[in-house]
Amino acid sequence: MGRYRIAWMPGDGIGVDVMTATRVVLDRLALDATYVPADIGWEFWCREGEALPERTCAILRETDCALFGAITSKPKEEAQKELVPALRDKGLSYRSPIVRLRQDFNLHTNLRPCRAYPGNPLNYRDDVDLVVFRENTEGLYAGVEFHPVPQEVSDVLAKTSPQWRRFAKLPLEEVAISTRVMTRAGCRSIVTQAFDYARKTGRKRVTLVEKPNVLRETGGLMTRVAREVAKAYPGIDFDEANVDAMCMWLIKNPQSYSVLVCENMFGDIISDLCGQLVGGLGFASSGNIGDKYAVFEPTHGSAPKYAGQMKVNPIATFLAAKLMLDWLGEEERARRLEGGIAKVIKEAKVRTYDMGGKATTMQMAEAVAANV
Ligand code: IPM
Ligand code: MG
Repeated sequence: MGRYRIAWMPGDGIGVDVMTATRVVLDRLALDATYVPADIGWEFWCREGEALPERTCAILRETDCALFGAITSKPKEEAQKELVPALRDKGLSYRSPIVRLRQDFNLHTNLRPCRAYPGNPLNYRDDVDLVVFRENTEGLYAGVEFHPVPQEVSDVLAKTSPQWRRFAKLPLEEVAISTRVMTRAGCRSIVTQAFDYARKTGRKRVTLVEKPNVLRETGGLMTRVAREVAKAYPGIDFDEANVDAMCMWLIKNPQSYSVLVCENMFGDIISDLCGQLVGGLGFASSGNIGDKYAVFEPTHGSAPKYAGQMKVNPIATFLAAKLMLDWLGEEERARRLEGGIAKVIKEAKVRTYDMGGKATTMQMAEAVAANV
């Protein structure tokens, strides 16, 4: 048995393609690991009514970490239609398995580095090097939502919030509510992770991306906690930006920023913007990190129309594997992997279609493997 036990979750769509390619690279690095295949994805929803079966959670509980490809998700009505007949009308509802994994395994920190590798024709600029810290279990993703709004919820809101009164007059079916739930501990944790990372990696600036001028309570709490945490890191500049303004600044001067810290939904949005600055979905990776467990994944989805064609760019998943190696303490292999990726990009001989080339997913894997 290998030194590490890694849950292996290709998922579906191109998740399978990019994970097959990633295995080639990890094998070349001779990582001493046992890869434990685990079921997750759309086919398990259709067949079993559960995209994240309990047997997979059991595997996660007894492995060191997991690498995950991608999964398809579809709107409510379509999800119902694709269930096997025996499971239809059972009141099953589809919830994103990755969001559940983040919450059920308390993977509170989402780390999304966005670095422009020199020579990537898709770079917005060559000097972008951003790292997004996204809170991963709270905020609008907490799942506290109502439609129709229960009468007792409406009554309590009418009593406690003058702002609710204009909605209280409407029929309950005419209103939906999603709540942004943030805790002091959650805010403190994500900001602390961001500063610790800045200190460890010699970065000099941490920017909080929020909207406290409008979201006065949740945004206010996050801002106060961040200011407090920042005091413990005197060598690192701390500043604050509203999320809307940040979208403009990141296009105007992305090279001025370094570490960005956000709550869940703002982090989801900002990290896509940052990903596009460095080549788009083929280059955006992510680590969902808890105290004892972590799940690494490319940020892209399952792109069903390309599934099985071995055509898509696997670099985002290689970068996810690099994050995994760092987290396991395999820094030397992590450096070799990133070095191999950077070299292949720079040499410009092997390029997948998104980069304007004709190389297949496997040719990219072999090129990177040859350079690690
Ligand atoms: C991401 C994705 C997910 C999210 C989706 C697939 C639920 O967009 O990882 O950024 O919203 O967090
Ligand atoms: Mg996203």
